[in-house]
Amino acid sequence: MSIAPQNSMYEASVDLQSKNGLATGPDTLAPVWACEIDTPAFVYDEGIIHQLLDCATDCRERAGLKLLFAVKSFCFADALEVMAPRVDGFAVSSLFEARLARAVAGKDGIVSITTPGLRPQDAGEIGLLCDSISFNSLNQWDMHRERMKGTTSCGLRVNPQMPFADDLRYDPCRPNSKLGAPLDVLTAEFQRSPGRFAGLEGILFHSNCDSTDFAELEATVAKLDDQASEILDRVAWVNLGGGYLFDDSDTSDALCHAVAYLKSRYNVDVFFEPGSGLVRDAGYIVSTVLDLFESGGRAVAVLDTSVNHLPEVFEYGYQPDVKGHDDDAPHEYILAGCTCLAGDLFGEYRFHREIDVGDRVVFESVGSYSLVKAHMFNGVALPSVYSLNSTGQLALKNAPNFEEFAARWGMVTGAPA
Ligand SMILES: Cc1ncc(COP(=O)(O)O)c(C=O)c1O
Repeated sequence: MSIAPQNSMYEASVDLQSKNGLATGPDTLAPVWACEIDTPAFVYDEGIIHQLLDCATDCRERAGLKLLFAVKSFCFADALEVMAPRVDGFAVSSLFEARLARAVAGKDGIVSITTPGLRPQDAGEIGLLCDSISFNSLNQWDMHRERMKGTTSCGLRVNPQMPFADDLRYDPCRPNSKLGAPLDVLTAEFQRSPGRFAGLEGILFHSNCDSTDFAELEATVAKLDDQASEILDRVAWVNLGGGYLFDDSDTSDALCHAVAYLKSRYNVDVFFEPGSGLVRDAGYIVSTVLDLFESGGRAVAVLDTSVNHLPEVFEYGYQPDVKGHDDDAPHEYILAGCTCLAGDLFGEYRFHREIDVGDRVVFESVGSYSLVKAHMFNGVALPSVYSLNSTGQLALKNAPNFEEFAARWGMVTGAPA
């Protein structure tokens, strides 16, 4: 579901916009708050995070599942603090994420990890930081479980070999996948050598991407139940991964059925660890138009942001939503990023009024996998980070500075002469 902001601050009045000198008519491009901040900026909307958490909490309570937030999608610490009281903990992918998540979760919150890239030198600390680890392969299991079993609950990531994603680049169940022990290999190995699985406490699968159909998750559980029941009989927990969005169609009953089945049949704790589902609709990139000109008969607007702030636009050719865009509007622009890369383009958008240098352009529903992947090609600073709270108050949380850029490239600044 695209959750609509409900606060009146979002309704930019013409008077206020004019006062800011940034918009001239009823066909405003940007809400008032977007005109009040330095750009480029990433804004996360706490009100929408809470609305998305409401959907997840409903399932958590109805199904009795444990809800983790996958911080790989968005790991800004203050936003994690907002979420912490409403989730059971966090799902992480690396030592650094584990440290961050543990700092926010405190000693009582759950931190759970799975990664294809477990480095031997990190394993000890990861074991101390995380309540559970799902080894990505049988080989990883063999290499690390003895060392880690005293400190963390050891499980295995299984690849259910049941693909749903249309795009192979997002499909954890793609042919020859690197993600999880393939179900056929796992079950055959279990028959051949059950002793190899001694100490196995949990199973994780994550097999979908941006699906709004929880029936797919229920079908995956049914496949595991059918083919891996002897393994499920042995474990204390099952982690369903993420990959699902809460949607108007509300198929979440299927999630609840799957969880209820696992809990009653196998007496396990069931974890669900969405990322995008809890933050995608809650994030905006706010930019300013730096330049406007014609090229080959088309109007080009250069923004002070770049696809490097929304890397999935370039990686996957996805076109983000822009506030004020309407397919039937008369004024068309190619929105372009400000780096030297010719393909640093967001796409073609149409607006009801002409846009001007200085206007704000707001990309919507970009809360996940944007800031975490953003980088500083061309020395273009990362976006400032702002929170927008439920009463419409903005707070600056992080402002980029030259020192961070310089330090990354080995320059010491501010040292005494
Ligand atoms: C193991 C695991 N859990 C959870 C997630 C979060 O997925 P999403 O953001 O699509 O919900 C991912 C994403 O890659 C994942 O690999």
